Order: sequence, then structure tokens, then C-alpha cells
Amino acid sequence: MSKILLIDDEEPIRKIVGLYLRSHGYEVITAEDGQRGIELFQRESPPIVLTDIKMPGMDGIEVLERIKQMSPATEVIVITGHGDMDLAIQSLQLNASDFITKPVGNEALSVALRRAEERLATKRLLKATHEYLRKAEKRIAIGEISDKIAHEIRTPLTVIGGFARRLRNKASMRLSEEKYAGIIANEVARLESLINDILLYSGEIPLEKKELNVNKLISEVLLLLDKDLTQKGISVSTSFAEGIPLICVDRRKLGEVFINIIINAMHAMEKGGNLGVQTEYVQEKVPKTIKIAISDTGKGIPGDVLEKVFDPFFSTKTAGSGLGLTVAREILKRHNSTIGIRSEVGKGTTVTVELSPEFCVLP
Ligand SMILES: Nc1ncnc2c1ncn2[C@@H]1O[C@H](COP(=O)(O)OP(=O)(O)OP(=O)(O)O)[C@@H](O)[C@H]1O
Ligand SMILES: [Mg+2]
Repeated sequence: MSKILLIDDEEPIRKIVGLYLRSHGYEVITAEDGQRGIELFQRESPPIVLTDIKMPGMDGIEVLERIKQMSPATEVIVITGHGDMDLAIQSLQLNASDFITKPVGNEALSVALRRAEERLATKRLLKATHEYLRKAEKRIAIGEISDKIAHEIRTPLTVIGGFARRLRNKASMRLSEEKYAGIIANEVARLESLINDILLYSGEIPLEKKELNVNKLISEVLLLLDKDLTQKGISVSTSFAEGIPLICVDRRKLGEVFINIIINAMHAMEKGGNLGVQTEYVQEKVPKTIKIAISDTGKGIPGDVLEKVFDPFFSTKTAGSGLGLTVAREILKRHNSTIGIRSEVGKGTTVTVELSPEFCVLP
């Protein structure tokens, strides 16, 4: 329930109205004059303020003005004396939400509060909708821009890469020149792969689906990374489920998903550790799914980082592009599949892929 700030110089009113409000579930804070009321407002930021108009020192009109200046969205209900119509009108012109007259009746108070609550709810809804739309717009804009940039960069890269490779392979090259050409060729290759990731993310590259055995694909990926894993002192434990039917997927892209996940795990285990890979065929689910869990005993991910790991270009690494998991999720989405991540700082991380693609041979 909402917090209410009640400002009135008369103690009996603070008591009776306070009691009524508390019995209706409000958290009530009270102030005996305008000055103190403003201080409490700044400290506690209550969404609703109930203030008397006629008070010694700073009166209710000034309280209203100041609060509306600091926080226009706050609902301020003023309490006027009987027959103070001018003050009531003045306060409404200053954007008070409502006024009630003294003696404060329960009925009038509850109607005013209900209206204030409704307006607050509408404002919250509008704010949430606005934020949602703004984010969606931004996502679309980023998608379109990166798409265009990627296309623009790809052409010159192809040219640079082609000449660098020709230079590197030229027989008459001096050793240092060959080295430089090699570096250029490697860096270009890195940029090309980044560009491909971006285009893949924006859905530009079509899938080439063929039948595939998931266990076999993962074994091949592990073999490919075997040298790096051993070098880093990382042991691998696998548990492959039997009887998983063949699935129709893009082999290269799905392979890339597992490579991205395992390389992340390797980065998290700088001082060695264990990489666990487990596949499971979940037949009870509709549709039937294949669950792949890849876990590491690395440093783990703190909560505020975990929220962002799928964001495009989010990376905590100096040399990371921050597209690994974004691309993985995109590839999986296009295979009607999902990816999730759980982590505990100091213990490790588990990435779970749930494949529910088309099965080539009907299970
Ligand atoms: N297994 C993991 N353990 C700890 N942190 C992880 C793990 N996997 C991902 N992260 C965190 O998530 C971030 C985003 O991962 P992602 O793969 O998208 O990008 P990256 O690895 O930083 O760069 P890239 O993969 O593009 O080279 C990483 O920078 C890292 O902070
Ligand atoms: Mg990565």
C-alpha cells in the first residue's frame, strides 16, 4: 500500500485522520507544519500528500506549490475549512488533485483517496508503457543501423583481406613484410567474423538446415577446442544421452553456439577447472526437447552483470566484442530453441540450451 504524508497543525486531526488511513492499509507519516512537511516529503517521497490549507508559517497553498514543483506526479489532496471556496479553487488551479472540507468525513476522504490511487496507477502504467516503447524503438534503430554499417564495412574488408593474403603469400616477401601482411590478414579475418555476427544477429543470413546428431556435433566442438582446454588446465566431463533423434539444424551455426558458450567458460576458468557437458532427451515435454547443459567451475557472474549478458555488445572483457551470447540466442531463436544461464559467484556458471527444432526422423 502507498505511503501518505499528512500535514496538519491540529493534533486531533493528525490523530484521527492518521488512524483512519492506517486502518485502510496506508503507511502514514505526519508533520505539524508546512516546513517540516516539505522536509519529510524530500526524505520519504510519498506518492500521496494530504495537507491542511490554513496553517501558521508556511500554509497549505505554498506546500502544494513546492511539492508540485519538485514532483509534479505527486497527488496532493488539500483540506480546506468549511466555506473556503476561494482557497479550494486556488489549490485546484495549482494542480491539487482534490480538496476535502473540514470536518474531514470518512466518505469524502475515501473517495478522494480512491481517485488519487487510480490516477497514480494510470501514471505508472503510462510510464511503463512509455519506457517499453522507447526501448523497443531503440532496439529497432540499433538493428537497422548495425545492419547498414555491417554491409558498408564488408566490401572494403574483402578487398583489404584479399590483398593482404596475396602479399603474405608472395614468394619475394621479406620476413618482416610477411609478418606484417600476416597480421593484417588476421585482423581482417577478425573483423569479418564480427561483421558476420552482426549480419546474423539482424537476421540477414539464411539458415542451411541439414540432419545432425547433437552429441556428435558437441564432441567435434570439444575436439576442436581440446588443445586450448588442456593448455588452460581444464578437464572435461561429458555425459551424452542415448537415443536422441537426428535434428534438422544449421550445423555451422549451431556449432558456433556451442563454441561461443565453451569459450566463455574457458575465459571464466583462467586458473583451470572443470567443464561439464551434459545432453538429455526430454520426451515428456511437448514439443520434445533436447537439453544441453554446459557448466564451468569458473569465477561466476554477479547479478547485475547476469542481467546484461545477452545484450548486444555487452562485454566485461578487454578484447570481447560482446556478441557471443547475443548471436547464440539469435541462432537458437531461429531454430525454435532457447538459451538460459545460471551462475553463482565463486562457484561457476551453467548455460542451458533447450533445442526443440524439427526432428528429421519423426521421434
Ligand atoms: N561462463 C561464464 N562465466 C563468467 N562470465 C560469463 C560466462 N559467459 C558469459 N559471461 C559474461 O557475459 C559477458 C558476455 O558474453 P558474450 O559471450 O556475449 O561476450 P564476450 O565473451 O564478452 O565477447 P565475445 O564472445 O563477443 O568475444 C562476458 O563478457 C562475461 O562477462
Ligand atoms: Mg563470448
